[in-house]
Amino acid sequence: EKCVVAVDGPSGSGKSTVSRRLASALDGVYLDTGAMYRAVTWSVLQAGVDLTDPDAITKIALETELSIGTDPLAPHFAANGTNVDEPIRGSEVTGAVSAVAAVPAVRKQLVALQKAIIAGHPRIVVEGRDIASVVAPNADLKVYLTASAAARAARRSAEDATDVAATEASLARRDKLDSSRATDPLRVASDAVEVDTTGMGIDEVVAFLLKLLNS
Ligand code: CDP
Repeated sequence: EKCVVAVDGPSGSGKSTVSRRLASALDGVYLDTGAMYRAVTWSVLQAGVDLTDPDAITKIALETELSIGTDPLAPHFAANGTNVDEPIRGSEVTGAVSAVAAVPAVRKQLVALQKAIIAGHPRIVVEGRDIASVVAPNADLKVYLTASAAARAARRSAEDATDVAATEASLARRDKLDSSRATDPLRVASDAVEVDTTGMGIDEVVAFLLKLLNS
């Protein structure tokens, strides 16, 4: 039986860890749409194009050949034949990704790819910013994960060993860009279950979502 789970939310809300665990528990695959925007951003930076030029960004995005891993235990990504697992998590890509993701033609291209991947898998957990509203509006379960700004910054800086205050400022900047862009901004879908993970452990969140799926 087909099972699609949409997981949206801001950075540091626990989306990636929870989505991967849930995909494994369902014996399904995992799609990290943020990594797709990051991989395209990596390619745009490699090409050295002006980040304020949407046409130049679109041209590179359309030319970039993406390889998208969906194994929840090892979701590897490549762009134009180069493995980009490390650089897509670096500060250069993180600083530029919201600008690239705000370009409507880039979103159109990646959303089409995401829909095709979802159609090709019986059980899939998809994480991002616009999954419930745009990418998988017919998902069996739609979850919006949140956490306090302080908790999100603490988690992210523990992951990448950066300063908490700097991380909190960088997350706040990206939240603002992602929520205020004209095309498909980050927001809670009307039929999504909102889960505040501030005081919750990963296992607890995953168990709660499995219970929702089985109810
Ligand atoms: O991992 P983190 O939560 O920091 O972000 P991400 O999920 O890797 O997404 C990186 C960026 O891609 C976000 O800040 C958005 O600008 C963009 N994004 C998007 O616009 N739509 C999505 N479905 C996923 C990511």
